[in-house]
Amino acid sequence: MTFAQAKEKLEKYGQEHLLKYYDELSAQEQDMLLAQIAATDMEILEACRHREELSKKGVITPLAAMQLPEIEANREEFTAIGLDAIRAGKVGAVLLAGGMGTRLGSDDPKGMFNVGMTRELYIFECIIHNLLDVVTQADTWIHLFIMTSDKNHEATVKFLKEHRFFGYRESFVHFFTQEMAAATDYEGKIFLEEKGKLSTSPNGNGGWFISMKKAGLLEMAHEEGIQWMNVFAVDNVLQRIADPCFVGATIRKNCVVGAKVVRKSTPDEKVGVMCLEDGRPSIVEYYELTRELMEAKDENGDPAYNFGVILNYLFSVAELERILEQRLPLHIVEKKIPYLDEAGEQIKPQEPNGYKYENLVLDMIHQMESCLPFEVVREKEFAPIKNRTGVDSVESARALLQKNGVQL
Ligand code: UTP
Repeated sequence: MTFAQAKEKLEKYGQEHLLKYYDELSAQEQDMLLAQIAATDMEILEACRHREELSKKGVITPLAAMQLPEIEANREEFTAIGLDAIRAGKVGAVLLAGGMGTRLGSDDPKGMFNVGMTRELYIFECIIHNLLDVVTQADTWIHLFIMTSDKNHEATVKFLKEHRFFGYRESFVHFFTQEMAAATDYEGKIFLEEKGKLSTSPNGNGGWFISMKKAGLLEMAHEEGIQWMNVFAVDNVLQRIADPCFVGATIRKNCVVGAKVVRKSTPDEKVGVMCLEDGRPSIVEYYELTRELMEAKDENGDPAYNFGVILNYLFSVAELERILEQRLPLHIVEKKIPYLDEAGEQIKPQEPNGYKYENLVLDMIHQMESCLPFEVVREKEFAPIKNRTGVDSVESARALLQKNGVQL
């Protein structure tokens, strides 16, 4: 893109300030800035002016979960079906590790966090060990795809290599990076992070499949015969991945996606809840859950919206390809964004000062034809690390790891 083309694009979106320092830059920096301007989607930034319209929901009705007694009664059958699929190479695992982990407040990728107390035990290590359990049980390797972002890619790859992938076979580990999105002030003006660089932030975990395709890994998945992708978050150290029983139940029930869920601890717990929206599977966020929905009962008199998602989904690859062209809703999130002030000084704000723009994997559920919410025991499978202390923290995860016999 030439300077004139960049100027024209920026004028169209009211972002001309991004060229303020252009003349001070070296030729190489100028080229990089122009390339970044060319690559940035500025269309989406308009959305911050009508944020409230973005979260409009359809008609919410309950979606029954497969609960523990039914799972126990069929465990053997489901597990056999799941193991068959895994042994046939039909299941891949996708670790979403492109997030910034700002709440944890470490500069390193979240997976590098050491949860050990008397020994080193990293988040990545916990996750890989959990997956290795299934590798051992099935006696076959499972392809593990790891999504990073420009902000943490190098550090993640270096760390995992240094630790020899914690025993995972390297030829079964595949990295890809997600896209970035511009970060703006409250008026939708993109911040400069440096004189020749726009502020960007990872564009949410919803772009994982598109990014994976762009990296050529979808082709590779086809060649390997992968038909299911188990997508999961980096921060749940008790996460069961490629769980044969879960895989088998989703296949047996002829669903195109399975979602691991936990019974809510309180009606107002801050988790997204499985439901139907306009008759299709969906997830309603805790802040969208009205009192009426919170208190609604199903035909057995149990709470109708009682199962929260834990970011562990099993997607049919064919369905993912079907929805590839569909746009996901945009989420605009308040955030602390480092920026250059009027005087050209770099500022690291202590309080949120603008927006980042994200797509979320949970919105992909609504694009699917059918979904199986699959209950898991919270104390055994859900120990998210979002914060240092308090709820969903290093402290609470450590306690849960110990409860499950993991030596810290
Ligand atoms: P979170 O919603 O907890 O976001 O991500 P985060 O960025 O990691 O943490 P905070 O909000 O800044 O504290 C849930 C999962 O989605 C991944 C994260 O790595 C985590 O596994 N994620 C999130 C991405 O892969 N990319 C993103 O752009 C955002």
